[in-house]
Amino acid sequence: MAIMGMDKKNFFLDGQTAIVTGGASGIGLSTVRLLSSVGAHVIMVDINKELGNELSEKFKSEDKKIEYIYCDVSSEASILELSEKIISKKVSIEILMHFAGIGLEKKFINTSLDDWNKIISVNLTGSFLVTKEIAKLMIPHNYGRIITMSSVAGLRGGTGRAAYGASKGGVIALSKVLSIELSPYNITVNTLCPGAIETELVKNMHDKETRRVFLQNIPQKRYGFPEEVASSALFFTLPGSSYINGTVFPIDGGFNSSGIIKK
Ligand SMILES: NC(=O)c1ccc[n+]([C@@H]2O[C@H](COP(=O)([O-])OP(=O)(O)OC[C@H]3O[C@@H](n4cnc5c(N)ncnc54)[C@H](O)[C@@H]3O)[C@@H](O)[C@H]2O)c1
Repeated sequence: MAIMGMDKKNFFLDGQTAIVTGGASGIGLSTVRLLSSVGAHVIMVDINKELGNELSEKFKSEDKKIEYIYCDVSSEASILELSEKIISKKVSIEILMHFAGIGLEKKFINTSLDDWNKIISVNLTGSFLVTKEIAKLMIPHNYGRIITMSSVAGLRGGTGRAAYGASKGGVIALSKVLSIELSPYNITVNTLCPGAIETELVKNMHDKETRRVFLQNIPQKRYGFPEEVASSALFFTLPGSSYINGTVFPIDGGFNSSGIIKK
């Protein structure tokens, strides 16, 4: 296999098309903006039609190559519709970032089967179904960069994270298998594990006490910002990142690697 020379074009995405699920808010939206700024055509996928359409108008007025497609990632029918819409556009898809997700902080003993099923169906089953359909579009082109979204909750135990942590741990296991099975098609799969990032999801999921305990245990003593996750996501999709596969990457101000922290 010929290895490309490393020059600055390996740090841009000109001519590539990226799908970002959960692209209308938080980490997804920051990533949509960043991918577009380095030359990618971006398809922003989200269940929130109002936000998606509003953003799509805004991006059009800014002359950005970012479009919105509705999809509910917990529905196979909706994902098949998404895939058909993409096929009808006759574009090749080089990048998939699967960031659509929902949160829940509820003690295990109070978690209902409905709570469990809802979290698993969006965060884990959604990752499986979306990645399967989009990988089918990548395989004939023999190229792809897939980024899946886990969390530090998929790496470590935490109060109230039975369903959420299980869904995110599942994403890690799924992604490791995909990184093997898709490798023959020149498709890499890497997983991000953000810690506490200031987004709508966290506004609803973290109460005052969760914030206090998190801050106490983060060496950098602050929450992260969506842009700080977007830059890592971009890194894994760059043409020059071709030999990074199957990794699980924390973006958490040092939370995952720390033990006791003294003043
Ligand atoms: N914010 C954090 O601290 C944090 C930490 C670790 C992991 N994550 C993960 O990052 C991802 C993005 O979360 P965020 O914090 O940016 O939250 P967010 O709420 O700002 O964004 C999530 C987006 O996903 C969309 N979405 C939800 N359900 C969907 C569905 N069924 N189909 C399609 N789209 C759907 C929402 O409409 C929203 O636009 C999630 O997977 C989340 O679990 C977030």
